[in-house]
Amino acid sequence: MLDKIKNIKNQMEAFPIRDIESLEQFRIAYLGSKNIIKPLFKEMKQVPAEERKAFGQRINELKQRATALYEAKRATIHQAKSKDQAQSIDLSAPGYPHRIGSRHPIRIVMEKLVRIFEHIGFVVAEEREIEDDWHNFTAMHTPDDHPARDMQDTFYLQDAKDMLLRTHTSSVQSRVMETQKPPIRIIAPGRVYRNETISARSHCQFHQIEGLYIDKNVSFADMKQTLFYYARAMYGADVKLRLRPSYFPFTEPSAELDVYWGLESEDDYRITKGTGWLEVLGCGMVDPQVLTNCGIDPEIYSGFAFGMGIERQAMLQYKINDIRMFFENDVRFLQQFAAE
Ligand code: DAH
Repeated sequence: MLDKIKNIKNQMEAFPIRDIESLEQFRIAYLGSKNIIKPLFKEMKQVPAEERKAFGQRINELKQRATALYEAKRATIHQAKSKDQAQSIDLSAPGYPHRIGSRHPIRIVMEKLVRIFEHIGFVVAEEREIEDDWHNFTAMHTPDDHPARDMQDTFYLQDAKDMLLRTHTSSVQSRVMETQKPPIRIIAPGRVYRNETISARSHCQFHQIEGLYIDKNVSFADMKQTLFYYARAMYGADVKLRLRPSYFPFTEPSAELDVYWGLESEDDYRITKGTGWLEVLGCGMVDPQVLTNCGIDPEIYSGFAFGMGIERQAMLQYKINDIRMFFENDVRFLQQFAAE
């Protein structure tokens, strides 16, 4: 019996392990589920009781030796392998091109708009997307029974009273007026949310840019010139523009700015609903009540504000006819803007 153990041990010590394959053969022979050490444990029964303990010890030692041999060889073989690999790197080979990401089309248009306004002295203001009812609605002179407050339109937070996802960037106006003293000249780009059915034309999340200008003696003429400057920078120096009277709770008087798009193709008809004109933003003189709500004296200061959607301008610029494309993160769509 003891001879048998010795034989196995000698064979094992002499086993030629040179590479991964022979290492695996070694493992199967001495450590695998059908290894040749295992049957020895069964044979132990035939060994006289007084020798059994010593015999058992020898088998265990044999098993441990097999494991130790295996681990040691495995370590050296793997080391050699990674060294081999390191040496096989060809430092003169041309590199693989890295795929470069691209800016999102919304970001491209947003940055363009921001640059236009920065050029005439506006600074960017950023604020939270989770707002309270006061800053989104009440401060902005939107009465309790205003349809914009309807559960249909606003995402309210379930467990926090009066908290919501801002429905427009106008909420930034109230935040800024509360904390800054005039003169104020800010633009606020950002994401807004509305509880709308998602379709090719509308989404429950989109982007806006808000503008606010407050100082002494700010007039409607200042607003008109500012917005015309923007529209010419964005749509070309000879673009046809019109300001149309409108209504917003937070401005008085209120207006909308239309850009003449043209009425030549069927697409033009569809996009402009047959008028040739395209509405690009809402604007107006800040309602004195809004100034008061935010701690600014309307007897001393006046101002104008405007708000525009970014998706629509991006859709027009890049001829994208489904707003959902912006939010799907399809690389085939996104990489088309790599050159911008
Ligand atoms: N907040 C308005 C909206 O989401 C847009 C708007 C209109 C903003 C007039 C303004 C404004 O600042 O003066 O539809």
